[in-house]
Amino acid sequence: MNKKQFVDFFLNDKKRQVQIENAVAYAPSNIALCKYWGKRNHELNLPVTSSLSISLADRGATTFLKAIDAEKDEILLEGQPVPETSSFVRRITQFLDLFREPRKAFFINTSSTIPIAAGLASSAAGFAALSQALNVMFDWNLSEKELSILARLGSGSASRSLWHGFVEWHCGEREDGLDSYAEPIHQEWRELRIGLLIKHVEEKKIPSREAMKLTQETSPFYAVWPAKVDQDMPQLKQAIQEKNLIQLGSVAESNAMAMHALMLTAKPSILYWQASTVELMQKVWRLRQEGIEVYFTEDAGPNLKLIFSAKDAPVIQFHFPGIQIVSPFLHEID
Ligand code: PMV
Repeated sequence: MNKKQFVDFFLNDKKRQVQIENAVAYAPSNIALCKYWGKRNHELNLPVTSSLSISLADRGATTFLKAIDAEKDEILLEGQPVPETSSFVRRITQFLDLFREPRKAFFINTSSTIPIAAGLASSAAGFAALSQALNVMFDWNLSEKELSILARLGSGSASRSLWHGFVEWHCGEREDGLDSYAEPIHQEWRELRIGLLIKHVEEKKIPSREAMKLTQETSPFYAVWPAKVDQDMPQLKQAIQEKNLIQLGSVAESNAMAMHALMLTAKPSILYWQASTVELMQKVWRLRQEGIEVYFTEDAGPNLKLIFSAKDAPVIQFHFPGIQIVSPFLHEID
């Protein structure tokens, strides 16, 4: 089944004509504490394993969508046109092709509070916001769980960006992927802080989907990844229920390191780390030895995200000047 066939089957008798001329939606970025790394179906973005994330509150994407009578889509980023050949435009256009009426085009303006394509889950927020806007525009009345299935077709991790807080994306087993959706984990952890250490904002050289595919196909260690996830997931869930920062942070850090170890052992090796990435990792470990409970995670990019508690925010700010601190549970939840 290809994406288009899936969407036709999924939306079934839902309206396929624009009901409301324009719509706007916001979705937060999310950072995986247990990573999604590997697909069991590349066409439908069905993962090999489940994954678990924390959403980044007001760091995310707002998408304005309007139906227009034009030959082709008009896609803006922060109000500025983006080259048609860019992967940003290509991916959005291909996603919209799944839903568009014949001879119709869309105008889209995305504003992001997080750098695009630097391993900060901007595409997750973008596709989640776009799915929500389409839901409004076509008046589909889809639930968030159903929207997570649609958003997944744009970018796997987008399935986790439909909610604030902790979210689990179930890998599912079905070939059509109807059981591969995300849902929130209902636990508030108001003292939890995520620190964004954004040292590199340039677009990454290898997109995550390519890195994921290469790792899965060539790393001799990929076979043990599902076992690592099976070990980490229950521990993360327990840490969340018990608000145990040491357990949450150490499992998340070890999970990220395992994912990067798989990348290092791909052929050819994939290394997203820069010198500054390693320096910052060492700094985190040094601070931990000094008794400060701080951990890191890292995605398909050189930037680290720190995990710590509100009480340590001043000391973290002192040791990591310029860090952007996010409070995932202290914001207006819409
Ligand atoms: O959703 P994608 O195709 O951008 O892949 C996301 C991959 C990671 O960010 C590295 C891990 C994750 O679970 O978000």
